[in-house]
Amino acid sequence: MRAWAFAEFGVEHLVLTERSEPRPGPGQLLVRLSAASLNYRDLLMVRGAYNPRQRLPLVPCSDGVGEVAAVGEGVSRFSVGDRVCPLFSQTWVTGPPDDDAGRGTLGGPLDGTLQEVMLVDERAAVAAPEHLSDAEAACLPCAAVTAWRALVTEGGIRPGDTVLTLGTGGVSLFALQLGTALGAGVVVTSSSDEKLARALAMGAAHGVNYRTDPKWGKAVRAWSGRGVDLVVELGGAATLGQSLGAVRTGGCIALIGNLGGNVAEIALPRILMRAIRIQGLFVGNRDDFESLTRFLSVNPDLRPTVDRVFPFEEAPEAFAHLASGTHFGKVAVSIR
Ligand SMILES: NC(=O)c1ccc[n+]([C@@H]2O[C@H](COP(=O)([O-])OP(=O)(O)OC[C@H]3O[C@@H](n4cnc5c(N)ncnc54)[C@H](OP(=O)(O)O)[C@@H]3O)[C@@H](O)[C@H]2O)c1
Repeated sequence: MRAWAFAEFGVEHLVLTERSEPRPGPGQLLVRLSAASLNYRDLLMVRGAYNPRQRLPLVPCSDGVGEVAAVGEGVSRFSVGDRVCPLFSQTWVTGPPDDDAGRGTLGGPLDGTLQEVMLVDERAAVAAPEHLSDAEAACLPCAAVTAWRALVTEGGIRPGDTVLTLGTGGVSLFALQLGTALGAGVVVTSSSDEKLARALAMGAAHGVNYRTDPKWGKAVRAWSGRGVDLVVELGGAATLGQSLGAVRTGGCIALIGNLGGNVAEIALPRILMRAIRIQGLFVGNRDDFESLTRFLSVNPDLRPTVDRVFPFEEAPEAFAHLASGTHFGKVAVSIR
């Protein structure tokens, strides 16, 4: 079986390798992958920026979908032929995260989904929604589960609430689609008027160009009246100041991303005097994933926004496309 792997950091060091096919041990599934999708994290991982001490070689990517081709002794959750998505965090099933949740993640430190076959503990997989294509289902484990946990599990979003989400990448468009389906008014920022027009066509209540309006927090606040209830904060250091301007007193900032840097200087009274909740987020657990798939199954029109699907042999081009920032939604790789 074939696997993309890198033994040195850098997209240029991704190599298609040949490996022997593993056999499932007790409690394990042998999953024949049909599609994977890329997250910004995968790009950072390959570049060595996510964890410079990551042990190599590594098979990148946390997200994918595939068919159960064989099962090990004692498996009861799945059968041969089932279509499953592995969890992003292989050990985090329920409850709040613990230190192990960050140690057992696919695409670093564990080998990920950019390969034809992988072993997955049966407890670390969920059934893929039947109505989604392989490329669509492959987008769920990190990006969609993160948006779901931000809006539902931690955010408690209700109809009539307002949500701000930043940019038009994978997590952000899931936040737009899920927030809209939950009855919230979602405002989207983007560096591109053309992408904003697409977001509005998808149901965004408002759009602001963060490039032409660097003080976009004020514009979002003006649009919402009192400030938004929840910010899906993906830009990190570059955007947290504006997000604080956009959120309402008593509102919540789901601190998720670092697209614009890791270290922010923030005047703390802006947070404490307005009783703002800053909620750090690390994707989600299996409960989150399963409640998301139930939601998608009864909202079949809500389909992941797949920007482009690359053939398996062109995985490095998929990384280059993600790095270009020209994508709208998710970048996927077809494996079979
Ligand atoms: N904590 C977690 O559990 C978790 C989970 C998933 C993702 N993340 C993080 O969340 C972030 C987004 O991930 P992703 O996979 O969705 O990324 P992505 O698909 O690559 O999204 C990139 C898009 O974000 C927008 N963007 C880039 N820089 C920006 C900035 N400085 N300010 C505002 N928008 C900016 C751009 O949209 P426009 O072209 O429209 O401007 C860009 O196309 C990343 O930092 C990732 O590491 C964290």
